[in-house]
Amino acid sequence: MITYFDILPSTNLYLKEMAENYDNLDAIVAHHQTEGRGRMDRTWVDEDDLLMSILVKDDVKDPEKLSLLICATIFKTLNKYLNGLKVKWPNDILCNNKKICGILLEGKSDGEKNIIVVGFGVNVNSTNFTGELKQKATSMKLELNKDFDINKLSKEIYQEFINDYNHFINGDEDYLKICKDNSCLIGKIVNIYYNDIIKEAKVIDILDNGHILLEIDGERLEKSSGEVTLHMNY
Ligand code: BTN
Repeated sequence: MITYFDILPSTNLYLKEMAENYDNLDAIVAHHQTEGRGRMDRTWVDEDDLLMSILVKDDVKDPEKLSLLICATIFKTLNKYLNGLKVKWPNDILCNNKKICGILLEGKSDGEKNIIVVGFGVNVNSTNFTGELKQKATSMKLELNKDFDINKLSKEIYQEFINDYNHFINGDEDYLKICKDNSCLIGKIVNIYYNDIIKEAKVIDILDNGHILLEIDGERLEKSSGEVTLHMNY
């Protein structure tokens, strides 16, 4: 079930705090956030966009895979409307090399029980990207020159996610294939940040466990999304 709010500080924060009032796979949408959270402690600015969080109460063994699962879900849904979409491991969707969706998974442990909040922001009707965002971000409206119904899109993504999640729980790895086949990174040279150093690396593959396989100075290294940050030219 999806619950809609006009305004919240952050859908991720709210769902984490109120998790006991919601069932597994319930979702919330806010039409605006005052303290939208992005990755690496950044803020997430919204205008007229889809801001959504889904609660996962199942004990998911590999939370990293959930990030790729929601990437695949959003990719498939947006692909019905847009051309030029790519998945940027581990948690962005790009459209014509600009970011159209960012994903932030947050976990909470209540004694024995772990929960994961799968949050994402899709740039739907935003048109005012300023500063460096102008070069790096886009929206469905900017791409297609028309407004979209945010609530309708939320329902489409939600239905697709529930379906994909049920397959995922049963061991289906289609989501991985979607992320790999549509990756903007595989085969590319990127700058990676890890252990406080910046290095050039070639992206070789995305592995079954959700990690990335890199080649650095001729050596192959597997890295989790928590270990490295990848930077590419958008
Ligand atoms: C990123 O930095 O790219 C991830 C951004 C994630 C933003 C979404 S908007 C809905 C949900 N609630 C939040 O506070 N953040 C996520």
